[in-house]
Amino acid sequence: MRVAVVGGTGAVGSTILGVMRERGFPADDLVPFASERSAGRSIDWGDRSLTVQGMSDESVQGFDLALFSAGSAVSEEWAPRFAEAGAVVVDNSSFWRMHDDVPLVVAEVNPEALDSHKGIVANPNCSTMQAVVALKPILDRAGIERIVFSTYQSVSGTGQRAVEELHDQAVAVLNAKEMPAPAVYPHQIAFNVIPQVEAFKDGDDYTTEERKMMAETRKILGEEELGISATCVRVPVYTGHSESVNVQTRDDLSPEECRELLAGAPGVRVIDDPANGLYPLAIDGAGQDDVLVGRIRRDPSHERCLNLWVVGDNLRKGAATNAVQVAELLVERGLLSSRRAPA
Ligand SMILES: NC(=O)c1ccc[n+]([C@@H]2O[C@H](COP(=O)([O-])OP(=O)(O)OC[C@H]3O[C@@H](n4cnc5c(N)ncnc54)[C@H](OP(=O)(O)O)[C@@H]3O)[C@@H](O)[C@H]2O)c1
Repeated sequence: MRVAVVGGTGAVGSTILGVMRERGFPADDLVPFASERSAGRSIDWGDRSLTVQGMSDESVQGFDLALFSAGSAVSEEWAPRFAEAGAVVVDNSSFWRMHDDVPLVVAEVNPEALDSHKGIVANPNCSTMQAVVALKPILDRAGIERIVFSTYQSVSGTGQRAVEELHDQAVAVLNAKEMPAPAVYPHQIAFNVIPQVEAFKDGDDYTTEERKMMAETRKILGEEELGISATCVRVPVYTGHSESVNVQTRDDLSPEECRELLAGAPGVRVIDDPANGLYPLAIDGAGQDDVLVGRIRRDPSHERCLNLWVVGDNLRKGAATNAVQVAELLVERGLLSSRRAPA
């Protein structure tokens, strides 16, 4: 099997390469793609050395699978070209997620959606991904009427440059040096909390990240009318998104039942002994594929509302691991045949 990893030098792409190696993904030929800046660079992958390629009509030919994490503009232009040339694309950008003929898939939640793919499959936004892994078992057991998300998102969710920005600003503060001007974020992120993730577009008072979280959650859960409100916040954490999730169920679900349900759910690990200081922490979630859930408790203001604290590694389950799981499902289900790209 010939596999392309587009954006293979970036935060998500390099994690995809690592996860493929860890899981023994059966790639006979593996080609990282990036911008012309990185073309020709070597990447060590186990005992193989991979050479980064630039994008061209010739270089995208002959792949069975292409895992994309190079941003929306690259996905818009190049995902259909890979698909037309015979590959199935698994895309991490937001560009294709809400297209009607593109399935938006979380391996533990809606793998059956893969059956209808037309050459491109989308991976959801990282904050949505970890939330729906925890919410799906609740939906199946008790139904969901309404969700309120409040996120605490790490800087690696923005990419490599944001990680460097936090580092450089933190070094400046700790050494009482002049603060470098923020370039990636609109404000200083070191020792700060910014209630803006992505952009306020066209006069909207919700950010594009918040809109994505609301729309993608509905699409993945297949609940088009679900009431959802999201506030997405950037915090000075390198890796691991944390989320407060307030969920109103249709039927009764006690915190004890919820704990038991989630303890048996795929991709979830419950850590919930707050009296002993045990609850999910971003630093514990980083490097893990499981979504960690704790602080499961009744919302005292509503008899059918629960509060959860949900932590996930935004680069792994939030992006790379799910993309590789989706690729594994495509192989297992015999869905790696060439189909026309969505219009
Ligand atoms: N970070 C996360 O937690 C996360 C989670 C879910 C989804 N995503 C999505 O994944 C995508 C990548 O995010 P990231 O955090 O990995 O960003 P990143 O660290 O900035 O990496 C971007 C990658 O794209 C490549 N690239 C840029 N312009 C290109 C071009 N014109 N042609 C080909 N390759 C190009 C870069 O190559 P060079 O090295 O040559 O610049 C690099 O490999 C984004 O769409 C993001 O929204 C990210």
